[in-house]
Amino acid sequence: MNDLSNYRKSYEKSELLESNIPEDPINLFDRWFHEAEEFGGDSEVNAVTLTTIGLDGFPKARVVLLKKFTEEGFIFYTNYNSEKGKAIAENPHVCLSFFWHTMERQVIIKGIAKKIDGVSSDIYFESRPDGSKLGAIVSDQSEVISSRAFLEEKLQALENSFEGTVIPRPDHWGGFIVTPLEVEFWQGRPNRLHDRIRYQNKVDFTWEIDRLSP
Ligand SMILES: Cc1cc2nc3c(=O)[nH]c(=O)nc-3n(C[C@H](O)[C@H](O)[C@H](O)COP(=O)(O)O)c2cc1C
Repeated sequence: MNDLSNYRKSYEKSELLESNIPEDPINLFDRWFHEAEEFGGDSEVNAVTLTTIGLDGFPKARVVLLKKFTEEGFIFYTNYNSEKGKAIAENPHVCLSFFWHTMERQVIIKGIAKKIDGVSSDIYFESRPDGSKLGAIVSDQSEVISSRAFLEEKLQALENSFEGTVIPRPDHWGGFIVTPLEVEFWQGRPNRLHDRIRYQNKVDFTWEIDRLSP
């Protein structure tokens, strides 16, 4: 039996008060991201759980790496033909959630995902090491394959054919940008009286700010 009922922790590191937050959630995200990097010691602060609604009607969550965030949104890269890629093509409503446990913080973003333009994907693809570029070409992400050897042989064949040449970005690989509609910041507090501040995007990027009960 694995009884985990005694696993509990008091959250005491910080607080999230209306008197100390910006009008725009991207600014607060920026502050929290850099604090997680600087003080948190989490090794992959840009790892984010992406949830999509699948073609089968089920939500599915998996980790991707956030590669950029701006006022316009949050960018990650993937295979457009993967399960998540097909899910987004059918239903662009997605959720991104970060858990920075060393900071006792969570951020949950609901938004609309759309493909970024090809030139921007090219620029990012070009910055990747050759091995990652070839991996993106080799992997028909989310398809069933016969064995690991199948992948390794395919990689070897590609390495030979691209030796000494530029490796082009495949059309089926690129970025998605998630435009946020709602961003919730959660700061753990003692006695389970956590701080939860939610920003909701009203018209033209004016943000309504509410405190939610923990
Ligand atoms: C730490 C970590 C980072 C990952 N980064 C990415 C990523 O940036 N892009 C990506 O497509 N998959 C990434 N993956 C793999 C995904 O979690 C997932 O297995 C893959 O994208 C296939 O998902 P799908 O079949 O639901 O489309 C990462 C996994 C982990 C654990």
